[in-house]
Amino acid sequence: MTLFDVYPLNNITITKAQGSYVWDENGVQYLDMYGGHAVISIGHTHPHWVKRIEDQLEKIAFYSNSINIPLQVELAEKLGKVSGKEDYQLFLCNSGAEANENALKLASFHNNKKKIIAFSKSFHGRTSLAVAATDNKNIVAPVNETDNVIFLPFNDEAALQECFEKHHKQISSVIVEGIQGVGGINIANESFLQLIRTLCDKYNAVYIADSVQCGYGRSGQFFSHDYAGVNADVYTMAKGMGNGFPIGGILIAPHIKPKHGMLGTTFGGNHLACAAALAVLEVIEDENLISMAKQRGMYLINKLKSIDAIKNVRGKGLMIGFDVPEELKDLKKKLLFDHFIFTGEAKPNVIRLLPSLAVTRKQVDEFLDALNDTIAAIKEEQKVEA
Ligand SMILES: Cc1ncc(COP(=O)(O)O)c(C=O)c1O
Repeated sequence: MTLFDVYPLNNITITKAQGSYVWDENGVQYLDMYGGHAVISIGHTHPHWVKRIEDQLEKIAFYSNSINIPLQVELAEKLGKVSGKEDYQLFLCNSGAEANENALKLASFHNNKKKIIAFSKSFHGRTSLAVAATDNKNIVAPVNETDNVIFLPFNDEAALQECFEKHHKQISSVIVEGIQGVGGINIANESFLQLIRTLCDKYNAVYIADSVQCGYGRSGQFFSHDYAGVNADVYTMAKGMGNGFPIGGILIAPHIKPKHGMLGTTFGGNHLACAAALAVLEVIEDENLISMAKQRGMYLINKLKSIDAIKNVRGKGLMIGFDVPEELKDLKKKLLFDHFIFTGEAKPNVIRLLPSLAVTRKQVDEFLDALNDTIAAIKEEQKVEA
């Protein structure tokens, strides 16, 4: 059997990881400024996380959601405390798409309406409704097509207001990333998020904060939506939640009431996943990682802004992007193959930085030195060619 070939791969095999470094099969060390796609929150193979999972594995890894699982209750309490949303309810699942799928469905159960407002350049996952609310036609299969999703321009307050005035009887939910990730690190304006809150209140719609990538402390606040001083009705989470152990979840405001059978999953909230997620929150608290992410992010953004060759540096905390001009189009590749540094990208020309929240100042400097060297080297090559 062969693998179903859907991923364009770098020819690198990682066999070991620790903190913000990973090593390939030949022992070459790489700096991970990509966080394995924003997943590594507390650092690769953090000893507390490893121990928590190992200890749990010796006891029980899985039993179905038909019995008491006290670890779920412990996780809900801890998550309430660390996120500041103590009066919310937690539903656990396995991935970001599944979190969004459940959030959209829950909203529709709640207000018995059908239409979803989503925004240009959004990415919400690949399952049926999540992908229908994603602004990328290439990944929407005919079976996923629906006229229940209305796309509006991101950050366009007038368009949002007008849409609600026209269609509020049908609008069930608004789904929005506080900082768009796959779309290229685009920050939702605070006034835009505040308007979503106001309109959802006025017209009985559900505000869904897709925090799969921008949540869990990455932005320097637990949820990037917190910067706007508003509470969403539902927060969806995944990536940083398990530091690589697959787990997703949704936080649900108290006014949305559960009913038996309304949502469900076989694997969601299993013992092992809860142990991993608890370890992540314990480390976030013990190591003060949300405030670290804010400080490191500010330092990195300021340093990047002083590099003339790259453009439009933006982001919050450790969710950072910048535009790469055409003459530096090989920058990402050269950082990887000449300097052994992983970075992320967003098509067509954005480099995304999503390191562990525990990345050190020294590692950030290591990245900045490599970036400056690579830019200088590319410019030198171009001079010679000219
Ligand atoms: C904002 C956002 N939502 C949802 C998802 C989907 O998450 P998953 O790949 O875990 O299904 C992603 C993944 O990149 C994402 O960035």
